[in-house]
Amino acid sequence: MLHLVLETRLQSALREVLPEADVSMAQVRPTSDPKLGDYQANAVMSLAKEKRMNPRQLATEVVARLDVSDLCDAVEVAGPGFLNFRLKPSAMAGVLEGALRGEHGMVPPASAPRTVVVDFSSPNVAKPMHVGHIRSTVLGDALSRTLRLLGHRVVTDNHIGDWGTQFGMLLVGWKTLLDPAALEADAIAELERLYKAVNGACTADPGVRDQARAELVKLQSGDTENLGIWKEMIRLSQVQFDTIYGRLGVEFDHTLGESFYNPWLSTVVQDLEARGVARTTDGAKAVFSDGSVPAKEDPFKIQRDGEWLDAPLLVLKSDGGFNYATTDLATLEYRLRTWSPSDILYVTDGRQQGHFKQVFAAFRMWRPDDAAKVRLQHIWFGSILGEDGKPFKTRSGDTVKLAELLDEAEERALAVVKEKRPELPAAEQAEIARVVGLGAIKYQDLLPNRQSDYVFSWDKMLALQGNTAPYLQYQYTRAAKLVRDGGFNPASVKSVQIEAPEERALARQLLNFGLALTAVADECRPNYLCNYLYELAGLSSRFYEACPVLKSEEPVRGSRLALCHLTAMVLRQGLDCLGIGVSDRM
Ligand code: ARG
Repeated sequence: MLHLVLETRLQSALREVLPEADVSMAQVRPTSDPKLGDYQANAVMSLAKEKRMNPRQLATEVVARLDVSDLCDAVEVAGPGFLNFRLKPSAMAGVLEGALRGEHGMVPPASAPRTVVVDFSSPNVAKPMHVGHIRSTVLGDALSRTLRLLGHRVVTDNHIGDWGTQFGMLLVGWKTLLDPAALEADAIAELERLYKAVNGACTADPGVRDQARAELVKLQSGDTENLGIWKEMIRLSQVQFDTIYGRLGVEFDHTLGESFYNPWLSTVVQDLEARGVARTTDGAKAVFSDGSVPAKEDPFKIQRDGEWLDAPLLVLKSDGGFNYATTDLATLEYRLRTWSPSDILYVTDGRQQGHFKQVFAAFRMWRPDDAAKVRLQHIWFGSILGEDGKPFKTRSGDTVKLAELLDEAEERALAVVKEKRPELPAAEQAEIARVVGLGAIKYQDLLPNRQSDYVFSWDKMLALQGNTAPYLQYQYTRAAKLVRDGGFNPASVKSVQIEAPEERALARQLLNFGLALTAVADECRPNYLCNYLYELAGLSSRFYEACPVLKSEEPVRGSRLALCHLTAMVLRQGLDCLGIGVSDRM
């Protein structure tokens, strides 16, 4: 947080030297190498280039007007004009003491709170949630939690797929093949069986296909019986989704499925047409390019054999049905009208990139004024691979069901806990295994750059060493135990002393928690927080090795316990942002 104070002072010094320049971009960030100092600013170099000045000379002039002596040693000008800041221990201690008094956590409140809608998870009704849904669910939840901790207003919305042509087949299956006992035992499995059976029959027998189409038309025109069955299918699916969300600790403010937007779809299409954004093509209606950008960047163009062809976005099928995109346009309008968000994040896999580029562009053509007020971002991610490098599947080649995956994580973690802590009561062992198993799965998913594929590995994710959830949870437990054993009371600490290099390194990392969170929020990349916490855990280990805590005399003892307390707090809050729990014993 001290970097923010330094940033403000740097900007005013720059303004004094260059009254006309835009200095708002001048940032103070941690140095890559602590030997250079704690923070660094490189703004002088870009400003010097802009003003055609000698960067070192400009740097010297700025430093002469920069008064940070209360916070830092003398500011150093390095290389071609970097400014390096080394914090005074007293300044670091001041912030930590404030945190102990509860004046602020280690998180600065957002200076400009935003309203962010996060659209994530969004499974489809009548299909089991599988391993692919874990990424959207875990990533969307982590982003929502981080934005909330930073003080933003977050609206989470589960846009479940509860409408579409599959219901024609599901209705035929329900009416002709339903096994009530199987439905009772595992509703989604039974619905999946019905769908597969009717889908197979459709290929063989055009009569069945006509039947499915007729059932769909009846559903769409409001037939009471079909509507009732459809609602029951949604209800049964939602029960299973909720079980998974409950286990994962994921909550939604809203679950507005695709069907919620049905009443607006025809108006959307009419309006798109009236404004010249959509037009008829082969009996269907679609949005075409407006030619405003070069073909290479145009989401409504594709290149084939060296030629650019139209790739329109369909909004009305020739049979009168609406498309996935039509619903997304209606959804956008609803969200803007209802919550006035400044940002909407759509968390889905990378295969939907083309879809969202087209939807966002179509929205800009359709509602240019509204579109200017909101930032739409597709937060996409890669796939989960098996150890063979191919998409992650069960041994028999089926997709891995999420519920089974979570069971296995807990079982595997339980085996480890039983081995390491045989003396604990069974209920406590099970609770630790739950927190560790789920944490391991989530962390493995959040640690890689979201856009790259990753290999699913039980052994790696559950390892107690390395950049894993169990390691971080264990480091939390260690810090929390010291705090407990030391009978620490934050209110009794008069001052935090930062003397040993290990104390300094740990304190500096604690101060940068807010920066890590902001980086996550800015780029929607929770991996920044994972790596921050891993570094923090390592620094805390080095601190315990070099600096005795419980065996020291006061006031050193209290001061070191305070560092343990803040470390435990930041590890817990940081893991909580990732949706990962901690346990006091491990
Ligand atoms: N139900 C969709 C799927 O399973 C994801 C929906 C994402 N959100 C949206 N607004 N399109 O692929």
